[in-house]
Amino acid sequence: MKLGFLGLGNMGQAMAGTLLRAGHSVAVWNRTEGKTEQLKSLEGARVATSPADAARNADVVLSILADDRAVLSVALGEGREAEPEPLIGGLGQGAIHMSMSTISPALSKALAEAHGARAQRYVAAPVLGRPEAAEHGQLVLLVAGPDEAIEACAPLLLALGRRTHRLGFHPERANVVKLACNFVLAAQFEVFGEAYALAEAHGIAAPTMLEILKDSMLRPEPLASYGERIAESQFEPAGFRLSLGLKDVRLALEAAEAASVPLPFASLLHERFVVAMACGLEEKDWSAVGRILPHKRAA
Ligand SMILES: NC(=O)c1ccc[n+]([C@@H]2O[C@H](COP(=O)([O-])OP(=O)(O)OC[C@H]3O[C@@H](n4cnc5c(N)ncnc54)[C@H](OP(=O)(O)O)[C@@H]3O)[C@@H](O)[C@H]2O)c1
Repeated sequence: MKLGFLGLGNMGQAMAGTLLRAGHSVAVWNRTEGKTEQLKSLEGARVATSPADAARNADVVLSILADDRAVLSVALGEGREAEPEPLIGGLGQGAIHMSMSTISPALSKALAEAHGARAQRYVAAPVLGRPEAAEHGQLVLLVAGPDEAIEACAPLLLALGRRTHRLGFHPERANVVKLACNFVLAAQFEVFGEAYALAEAHGIAAPTMLEILKDSMLRPEPLASYGERIAESQFEPAGFRLSLGLKDVRLALEAAEAASVPLPFASLLHERFVVAMACGLEEKDWSAVGRILPHKRAA
């Protein structure tokens, strides 16, 4: 396919290389021109002079840029006065912008409208996975937009990803899923930090903790099965009663306090367990604490 590719940061370098190696012809553009050096010697590569230039004659233009500001600037030319001409000015009628950056759902929706107004097509396809995964076509792709546009992008999804999750027509939904996935991971960073701090304060090294965690809590079981219980609000029968879970979080906090170690996330969790008890959930599975926030199911 004839492609444009905008954004050659850590992810973009790897993804554009993967597409070139898969035999596509790719016009690459990056704000800092030096980052085109590595790719331009690959067969099928062309260095474009602007986002619009990369889009001219392309079937699909992929973009993977830092944030909303970068995407507004590169795709729509907003937030700056001078050249280069933005993507929207060069993309042909019926051609597709596949936006792979992690951006706000609101911007994704606005991009779909802006492209639609010019008879261009828009697909949101944020990605899960790091540059090494992008290099080997092993990303997980979260894709939403019009069916026929997604189908037209199928060879690209196949080259870049090991799995594509299709999330329907509304592009912004793919961006919401990406943000929720990143939140799950980012929350673990704090949890790791606090668990290591508690262990270290009592003379156990972090690598020892990690080895034990890898052999237990970090395995798909129990993590995935707790995720399933919470997704389905299935808290009976209780494998481990919530009142006993509260005891364990309290004991962790007491052990931390004894060593003057603050555990802010554990303190919040303790509060949530107390709320769960107040809601009468003491005999339910302890994972019920994951569903005491008000939540709204899709209609
Ligand atoms: N790295 C990961 O593991 C990972 C994984 C999944 C998703 N993501 C998402 O993928 C996107 C790219 O991430 P990355 O790690 O590749 O970031 P990065 O290495 O920091 O690259 C950012 C890219 O955005 C461009 N950019 C930034 N501000 C710009 C502006 N105002 N105008 C034009 N271009 C601008 C940069 O151009 P210059 O070279 O000129 O600075 C560069 O091409 C982000 O949305 C990120 O959240 C990253």
